Amino acid sequence: MAKNILLIISGGIAAYKALELIRRLRERGHGVRVVMSAAAGEFITPLSVAALSGQPVHGDLFSLTEEAAMGHIELSRAADLIIVAPASADLIAKAAQGLASDLAATLLLATDTRVLYAPSMNVRMWLNPATQRNVAVLRQDGAAFVGPGDGAMACGEFGPGRMAEVPEIIAAAEALLEQSCKIALPTAASGPLAGRHVVITSGPTHEPIDPVRYIANRSSGRQGHALAAAAQAAGARVTLVSGPVALPPPSGVHVVGIETARDMLAATSIALPADIFIAAAAVADWHVAHTGGHKLKKVVDGPPHLTLVENPDILATVAGMREGRPRLVIGFAAETEQVIAHGQAKLLRKGCDMIIANDVGAGSDVMGGESNSVHVISAAGVDSWPKLDKSEVARRLMALFATKLQDAT
Ligand code: C5P
Repeated sequence: MAKNILLIISGGIAAYKALELIRRLRERGHGVRVVMSAAAGEFITPLSVAALSGQPVHGDLFSLTEEAAMGHIELSRAADLIIVAPASADLIAKAAQGLASDLAATLLLATDTRVLYAPSMNVRMWLNPATQRNVAVLRQDGAAFVGPGDGAMACGEFGPGRMAEVPEIIAAAEALLEQSCKIALPTAASGPLAGRHVVITSGPTHEPIDPVRYIANRSSGRQGHALAAAAQAAGARVTLVSGPVALPPPSGVHVVGIETARDMLAATSIALPADIFIAAAAVADWHVAHTGGHKLKKVVDGPPHLTLVENPDILATVAGMREGRPRLVIGFAAETEQVIAHGQAKLLRKGCDMIIANDVGAGSDVMGGESNSVHVISAAGVDSWPKLDKSEVARRLMALFATKLQDAT
C-alpha cells in the first residue's frame, strides 16, 4: 500500500523524531515530501530531512523556484495523507483558525486531504483550554490526532504533551490511509441503530518478540465479529478494529486490521467518534520492551530475558475520555472463577457502562467455540443469560444497547 505522504514538521524538541518517522515511512514503501516550518529549522536541519526523504525540503511560502517547480497547493494535492509531526500549539492554533501565514498553515488551509496531527508541547500548553478548543475544532472538521502521550518531558515537567512514538504515528497513518482508500459504506436505512456509529474491537493482539515470534492468545474473534455483524444488521455504521483472526470480514462492516495493542488503540481513536464502543478484543496485557530487527538466537548462556511493558488499556482509555466519550462503553470480561464478582470489579475499574462477563474456566468452550453464556453487569444489577449461540448473544446485546441508547437521549 505505497502512498504519498506530505509531512509537515513544526517547531519543537520532538522534531528529531520526525527524522525517524521519515525513515520508517520510506522503509514501508511510502513516498514522503516534507515541509518544515521556520521554527522546525531551529531543531533539525533541512539537509538531514532532504537526505532522508530523498526530496527537496519546502519551507518558504514565497520561494520563486519552489513555487515555479511545484505550487504549494500542488504539494498537498499530490498527497494521500498529510501528517503534522510534531504539531506545535502554534500550528494547531493557526490551522483551527484557518490562518495562512506561512507555508505549513497555507497547505493545511488549502487541502481537502485528511490530516493526522501528532501534537507535541509542554503539558500546560496542551491542557490549556485554548489548545483543547483548537483540537476540538480540528477534530470536528475531520482531522485525526495521535497522542500526545504522558511522561517526563524535555522541559522537566510530567504529564500529557509528549509526541506519540513513531510506530504509533505510522499505525495511525496507515489506518487512515486504509479508511480513505475504501468507498464509504452507505448506512442501512432502517433498524434500531440506524444513523449510529458503532466501534468494536475484536480478536487477539500479537505482540512481537522478534521479527518471527510473537505473544498471542486463543481468542478467535468470533464474538466480536458476531457483534459487528449484528450491529450492521441493526442499521448501524460499524468499524471493526480486529487483531489477526481466521474469520471472513462481516459484510458491510468497515474492518481495520491491526496486530498490536498499541495499534489497536491508535486505530480505535481514529475510528471515534462513535455512539457505542464495544471492547470485545482479548488484548495482550504486555508487550516486549525491545524487539530487535533480528531473530533471537539460541545461546549457550541460556534463554533470553524478555522485559515486558504494560500495554495501554483501550477500554479504560475510551471510558475515561473527557471529551467525545461514546454514549455507551461496553467491556467484556473472560473469567475463570467468581465470574460475576470479578465482572463487577471490572465495571468500576474500567469506568465503562456495562460488562459482559463469561466463564472461560476449565470445561468451558467459550474461547474459540460457537456458543457463550453471559452475565450482563451494569450499575443497575446483573442479568444472567442462558447458553446461546454467539450470534444470538450478539443480536440480543445489540437490541439491549439500542434501548439503552434510546433511554439516554
Ligand atoms: O483487563 P481485562 O483484560 O481483564 O479486561 C477485559 C476487557 O478490557 C475487555 O473488554 C477487553 O477488550 C478490554 N481491554 C482493553 N485493553 C486492554 C486490556 C483489556 O480494551 N489492554
